[in-house]
Amino acid sequence: MARLAINVDHVATVRQARLAAEPDPVTAAALAELAGAQGIVVHLREDRRHIQDRDVEVLRRTVKTSLNLEMAATAEMIQTALRIKPDMVTLVPEKRQELTTEGGLDVTLHEESLRGVMETFHKGNIAVSLFIDPDPKQIKTAHRLETDYVEIHTGSFAEAKTFQRRQEEYDRVGTAAKLARKLGLGVHAGHGVDYQNIFWLRNISEIEEFSIGHAVIARAVLVGMDRAVREMLALVTG
Ligand code: PXP
Repeated sequence: MARLAINVDHVATVRQARLAAEPDPVTAAALAELAGAQGIVVHLREDRRHIQDRDVEVLRRTVKTSLNLEMAATAEMIQTALRIKPDMVTLVPEKRQELTTEGGLDVTLHEESLRGVMETFHKGNIAVSLFIDPDPKQIKTAHRLETDYVEIHTGSFAEAKTFQRRQEEYDRVGTAAKLARKLGLGVHAGHGVDYQNIFWLRNISEIEEFSIGHAVIARAVLVGMDRAVREMLALVTG
């Protein structure tokens, strides 16, 4: 059975919209763990638009399952990760203008520079996952780089507009997951996974962990609305 890791970035996005103290992604992470999540994921971006260094530092002390730090492979982020020591880092491409991570990291293009980065993390006893597109060439390079895990980018599958496109993208994810597993890599998947398309993806038995953020945080806002309004109404009309 696959594990569920919850990405709490969007909780920080709401907090940063007001530069306030709440909602705290650390509290959200604790609640996610109490509900059964088997891992917590945060993306510390170069522009610090949502998660802050303080969040990762506190999460390192409070997360009881597994803390996965998503990051770009820049010198600053590598230093931060080595200092904080998450259980795992997931290397992702990062562009300042993007709303969210737009594609997998091209590990074939960056193979040489990534080799040293992998060594640095392994020397620091931090497991590495490479977020890559479901492309056999990328999987084979990831294997050559001796990564511990690959996270297969499911964005194209999630965004497919027709049944045929979705089927094709699903097959690409499945083929990539099987190849990665055959090569002995741990297999994670994420991006755009939601309450509908999980019915497809959970059939790919090679996927050991799903990393899900947007769908769960969006649902949390809506299922929590009724209670939050009733609580305030009781105070207003008290
Ligand atoms: N995995 C990676 C590498 C990501 O960058 C993201 C988005 O932050 C996710 C998973 C989660 O994607 P979503 O928010 O669409 O569930």
